[in-house]
Amino acid sequence: MVYRVPDSFIEDLLTRLDIVDIVGRQVPLRKSGANYVACCPFHSEKTPSFAVNAQKQFYYCFGCHAHGDGIQFLIEFQGLSFIEAVETLSAELGIPIPLDANQRTEVEKESRLLQLTKLVASFYQQQLREHSAAQHAITYLKARGISGKIAKTYGLGFAPPGWHSLSKNENFTDEQIEDLKTLSLIIPDQSGNHCYDKFRNRIMFPIYDKRGRILGFGGRVFTQEEPKYLNSAESMIFNKGQELYGLYQVRAFNKTYETLIVVEGYLDVITLSQFGIHNVVATLGTALTEAHVDTLFKVTSDIVFCFDGDKAGQEALKRALHLSLEKILDGRRVRFMCLANTEDPDSLIRKIGTQRFLKKIDESIPLGEYIFKIAMEPLQLHHAEDRVKLATVLKPLLMKIPGNMFRQMLLEKLASITGIAPEQLIDKRKSNFSYNKKQVPATRALVSPAYKATALLLHRRSLVHLVHDSKEIQGIDIPGINLFCEIVNILQQNLHISQEAIVEQLKAKAIEAMEIDKMQATIKLIPEEGMEQEFIGNLNLLFRRASELLTDNLLKKAQEENLSPSEKIELKALLQKLQTMQSAVA
Ligand code: CTP
Ligand code: MN
Repeated sequence: MVYRVPDSFIEDLLTRLDIVDIVGRQVPLRKSGANYVACCPFHSEKTPSFAVNAQKQFYYCFGCHAHGDGIQFLIEFQGLSFIEAVETLSAELGIPIPLDANQRTEVEKESRLLQLTKLVASFYQQQLREHSAAQHAITYLKARGISGKIAKTYGLGFAPPGWHSLSKNENFTDEQIEDLKTLSLIIPDQSGNHCYDKFRNRIMFPIYDKRGRILGFGGRVFTQEEPKYLNSAESMIFNKGQELYGLYQVRAFNKTYETLIVVEGYLDVITLSQFGIHNVVATLGTALTEAHVDTLFKVTSDIVFCFDGDKAGQEALKRALHLSLEKILDGRRVRFMCLANTEDPDSLIRKIGTQRFLKKIDESIPLGEYIFKIAMEPLQLHHAEDRVKLATVLKPLLMKIPGNMFRQMLLEKLASITGIAPEQLIDKRKSNFSYNKKQVPATRALVSPAYKATALLLHRRSLVHLVHDSKEIQGIDIPGINLFCEIVNILQQNLHISQEAIVEQLKAKAIEAMEIDKMQATIKLIPEEGMEQEFIGNLNLLFRRASELLTDNLLKKAQEENLSPSEKIELKALLQKLQTMQSAVA
C-alpha cells in the first residue's frame, strides 16, 4: 500500500532504530575504534571500507560513498521503497504507523491476508511431508533432481487431491474462509452455497515477495494433465506484473551478488539453485513488464536474460531487449543468452553441468551486440537499401538509451556499419540533445553537489587547494554553483577570513548565502575521515557537468553544420573523459 507517513513519525522511528543492528543482520560487522567496519555491501572489495557509526546512526563507505541512515540502508540493500522500509522497521519495533480509519482497515486486511497465505503455505508443506498421496509428488521432485533441502528453501508444498482440504478445513475461522475466497484459494461452486479448493493434487510453489511475505501460489501437476500450472489470482496482495519468483531466496543466499539471471520457469530457478547457482529469478508466467525491469535494476546493475530456446522464449528475449533499452544508464549492463531450440535453463544445466553453464552465462551476448544482431538478421547489408533500413529501424531504438556514452557508442557503431555519417544519425528534430535526467539512481535523496561541496569547504577550508580551475565550472546549470565558485575565490585569496566577512562579500555580489546552514546539515552524516573524498567526489560531479555542457554544445553544432577537425578531436576527448566520470545531473 502507498500512503504518506508523517515526518514526525519518521523522526521518531529514526531515534529508536539501532543502525548497528539493522546493518549487522545483513553484513558481518567488526568493531574498530568508534565505528563498526565491514566489506561494503554496495560494491565489491577485499578490504573493508564500509563503516557504521552507532553514535551518529549512519553508515558510510569510503570506497563508493554509499551513505545514509537505517531507513536508507534497507532501501538500498533490500531494494525496498521508502514506505516498505518504514513499514518493515516500524513492524519490527512494534510501533504502529499513524493511519486514518480507511488506511487502517486496508492495512489490517492486507496483513490478515498475508498471515493467511503463510498459514496455507505451511499447510501445504505439512501435506508434502505427511499426506498419504504426497509420495507421487515427492517421487516426481526426486526424479527432477530436487533435493529436500532445496524444496525447503523454496517452501515447496503439496495440495492434496480432495476438493475440500482448505474449504472444509476446520482449523480455519469463518473470517479466514471468507479471506480464502478473496484470495481465490477456494472458489464457490455453481450453487454458490459451497466452496471447493482451487489447487488439488499439485506441487505448490509459494510466491514470496522480496521481504519474504507469501503473496500467492503456483501449482504444478506432476502427471501429463493440463493445465500444467495454475496460479493464484491477482488480489490486493498479489500483482503478477511486479513480482519476481526467487528474488527473496537470492537475497537470502547471497550477501552480495553482481549478476541476476532472469529465467522463465519456477523450475528453472529451483534447478539452477540445486546446481549451485543462486542468483536466479523468474517472472510469474507472465510476459516481462517494465515494472519487472525496474525491480531488477533496483537490486542489480547486471542482468542476464536466459529464456527458453523455443520460439516463445526467443520472442520474450526480444521483448526484454525493448523493455531494457530505456533503462540502460551508463554503468548498467544487460545481456542475452540464447538457448538451442529445445533447451531451457533447467535441461541445459543438467546436460552440461554448473561450470559450463556459468561459462555460457559469461559469454552471453551484451545488449549492444544483441540489438544489432536481431536487427541485421533479416537484412542483406551489401544493399544500400537494407543499410538505410537498418538505420531507420535502429536509430529510434538506440535513441531510447539514456546512458549517454553507451548511446553515443552504439550510434557510432550504426554509422560505421551503414556508412551513414554519425552527424546524420543524430535526431535533428530534437532541438535539445539533452542528457537524460534518469541518470542518477532515484533512491538517493540528492542535494546539489555544489551545495555539498560548499558545505564541506566551509567545514574544512584547506580543501580549497584541491580546486584547480574553478573557471571551467562557472555558470553551469547546477544550483548553488555561483555560491561555490565565489567562496572558492574568497578562500583562495584569504584562507583565514571570518565567516561573517565571507557572508559580507557574498552580499556585495548579490549571491544568496542563506542556504549555508541548511548545507551544513547535509554533511553532518559524513565522518571526518571521509570529508576529503566526499569533497573530491562532488567536485568531480561539477566538472563532469561542465564537460557535459561542452559536449552538448558540440553535438548540437554537429547537427547544424560540420565540426572542424579540432572540434572533432575535442568532442572525442570529451566523450572519452565523460565515460570515466559519474553523472552530475540531478
Ligand atoms: N506457466 C503458467 N501456466 C502454464 C504454463 C506455464 O503459469 N500453463 C508459467 C509458470 O510460471 C512457469 C513458467 O510459465 O514456471 C514457464 O513455463 P514452463 O517452462 O512450461 O514451466 P517450468 O516451470 O519450466 O516447468 P517444467 O520445466 O516442468 O516445464
Ligand atoms: Mn521450463
